[in-house]
Amino acid sequence: MAEQNIFILGIESSCDDTAASVIHNGKILSNVIANQKIHEEYGGVVPELASRAHQQNIVPVVAQALAKANITKDKLHAVAFTRGPGLMGSLLVGTSFAKSLAYGLNIPLIDVNHMQAHILAHYIEEEGFNKPPFPFLAMTISGGHTQIVRVNSYFDMTVIGETIDDAVGEAFDKSGKILGLGYPAGPEIDKRAKLGNPKAFKFTKPKVDGLNFSFSGLKTAILYFVQNETKKNPRFIEDNLNDICASIQYTIIGILIDKLKTASKQTGIKHIAIGGGVSANSGIRQALKDGEQKFGWTTYVPKFEFTTDNAAMIAIVGYLKYLEGDFSKQTVTASARLKI
Ligand code: KG4
Ligand code: ZN
Repeated sequence: MAEQNIFILGIESSCDDTAASVIHNGKILSNVIANQKIHEEYGGVVPELASRAHQQNIVPVVAQALAKANITKDKLHAVAFTRGPGLMGSLLVGTSFAKSLAYGLNIPLIDVNHMQAHILAHYIEEEGFNKPPFPFLAMTISGGHTQIVRVNSYFDMTVIGETIDDAVGEAFDKSGKILGLGYPAGPEIDKRAKLGNPKAFKFTKPKVDGLNFSFSGLKTAILYFVQNETKKNPRFIEDNLNDICASIQYTIIGILIDKLKTASKQTGIKHIAIGGGVSANSGIRQALKDGEQKFGWTTYVPKFEFTTDNAAMIAIVGYLKYLEGDFSKQTVTASARLKI
């Protein structure tokens, strides 16, 4: 690395968070996120509202990221942005903003794949956090994605398993909706699960070949189960909420760990990393830790603020691509279904 004083601005707008971050070499100087509360009333992200909120947020969020990093925009070496995958209307806001800014400043523009970024967030310089050595397995688990990826090097990754329907975060959120919990329900299910018995109720795990996942059947099973029990006892949910949450979480974690075990066996890789909003779940964190003893894994969980959608992960990928001189043209377009 010849030059050691590189500042990159990262911009993330793929879903419902407008985020900007400044990275200096591998270290994060600022990591600003404007969450869009508006979606809570609707029980899910409303794309049109998300896009409008991004338009309102992006200028102040970027200004705040620069101010917190204590630099002015003329110090930037490049602008990195999320090209996809995500909601088209949301992606377009970040993409066009990044393109204009890079053009105006006459500096390189770098497009970033959101899914690669969730994985490469592990390479942010952060005290007390180890970087996984190549090759490793990364499981990205969030409201929008569920994948197991074999990571051979920074930009050589292969998806070896993914969901064929709902993402794991949706399994948490939709189960929560059935139980009358707010959106997103993942954090509350996690909290209640700690107080309940994970074996109180049994939900069958879906049978999906290979390393792929399926979560839509589980949601339906939970719905029928709750409807049935409520017929017998109208207060069934209130009386058993912690146990129901613990049992749902236990089932979901079982599904994730089973697939990771198979992936690790098939590839012979024992370095396992996770990322995405669901990796905040205390049960999955514990299950991974247990895997260190049980299966000889070495596991990597990033700092919380780098697991949910954020721009620091976009900035680190921007930095890694900058070092390789991998820049984008001004003609680059957002891509809702961009693959790894
Ligand atoms: O990565 P993220 O912030 O956004 C995307 O979906 O890309 O992930 C949000 C998801 C939601 O489904 C939320 O319920 C889930 O992560 N989540 C959790 C926990 N914290 C967030 N799920 C289970 N346990 C948690 N502690
Ligand atoms: Zn994400």
